[in-house]
Amino acid sequence: MQFSKFGEKFNQYSGITQLMDDLNDGLRTPGAIMLGGGNPAAIPTMLDYFHQASDEMLANGELIAALANYDGPQGKDAFVKALAQLFRETYGWDISEKNISLTNGSQSGFFYLFNLLAGKQADGSHKKVLLPLAPEYIGYGDAGIDEDIFISYQPDIELLDNGLFKYHVDFEQLTVDDSIAAICASRPTNPTGNVLTDGEIHKLDKLARQHNIPLIIDNAYGLPFPNIIFADVQPFWNDNTILCMSLSKLGLPGVRCGIVIANEAITTAMTNMNGIISLAPSSVGPAYANHMIEKGDLLKLSTEVIKPFYQQKAQRAVELLQQAITDERFRIHKPEGAIFLWLWFDELPITSMALYARLKARGVLIVPGEYFFIGQEEGWDHAHQCLRMNYVQDDEMMQKGITIIAEEVAKAYAG
Ligand SMILES: Cc1ncc(COP(=O)(O)O)c(C=O)c1O
Repeated sequence: MQFSKFGEKFNQYSGITQLMDDLNDGLRTPGAIMLGGGNPAAIPTMLDYFHQASDEMLANGELIAALANYDGPQGKDAFVKALAQLFRETYGWDISEKNISLTNGSQSGFFYLFNLLAGKQADGSHKKVLLPLAPEYIGYGDAGIDEDIFISYQPDIELLDNGLFKYHVDFEQLTVDDSIAAICASRPTNPTGNVLTDGEIHKLDKLARQHNIPLIIDNAYGLPFPNIIFADVQPFWNDNTILCMSLSKLGLPGVRCGIVIANEAITTAMTNMNGIISLAPSSVGPAYANHMIEKGDLLKLSTEVIKPFYQQKAQRAVELLQQAITDERFRIHKPEGAIFLWLWFDELPITSMALYARLKARGVLIVPGEYFFIGQEEGWDHAHQCLRMNYVQDDEMMQKGITIIAEEVAKAYAG
């Protein structure tokens, strides 16, 4: 069969597809220790809440209405309005329903946005999305219809006490010129748990405005929901910012709901793309989230249940790792948010891809760091020395997985 250029590109077995496959296989393999994928934790309080919300929505007709009707291409009106009001009241942002569009998961929102802005332009030039700091979210990597739509920069590495470290944007290196279509960063960052400081965000905003390009902030884990953010920072939005959110890490990845908060021109573009690509985004997630807003539960549960759950899990995982791996070349990125720890094995004699394969053979699924250095030239040792570990499993699984990681890392250093 002959595929088109588009077909060839999107028929690749990309890093993100491998990750989703591993996740799917692992979920069905007895005994597998899943420290790989990005599935949120099954938090009992949240599961009970969704159970109860489903009962209520079934009884009052909201669930069947969501299942049985298309929403408009911008996404469920009632939810978009309720969200705009929530942001106005919570943060004083000057937004209305004209600033919000929904997509089938924020992953597809990024596909729309990157291709709306980057790649081949009408005048024949080629533009890229600038990622101020790699490692960055694996899911961006293959999202361009055109090739080569990302450029990224190595971070400054700050070594911290207690075996931790933190990445910072190296502003001296960043070059924004006519070839840049947008700046994009996840905050908190998947895979590292880094949170760009308020200072870094303001500098990026200034840079974006100076060059008349948008700043895309991927807020899949951030404020005000799901609030898996432990650093003391402020949320950020203005009419040059495209803030992307998701219901997934609230515990609802199956409803596939992404939220894009942007100026009216971007909102209209997203709405038009929705119409062509999917008619309308799914109605079910917005119905649940709207129910949560009406009840006053969305922010409350994020702050009182989700955030403390992940924060405690992250601290425990750091503790377990530091007990199990005492080699001084091992460091953990300061856990500031998201649902992963980023492990750095300096001077590791094998690549993290090889370490991933050894761990997979022993039933531990983890993600090799190489995938996250999107938009980078090959040749930075650090890119082969890191692993992303999801820390949401129960304590017994975490201990088992970490013991095996410690053994394989010791073998690799010794060998
Ligand atoms: C940083 C980041 N952005 C976006 C996404 C996509 O999420 P979804 O498509 O489920 O909304 C993820 C998923 O893990 C993520 O980690």
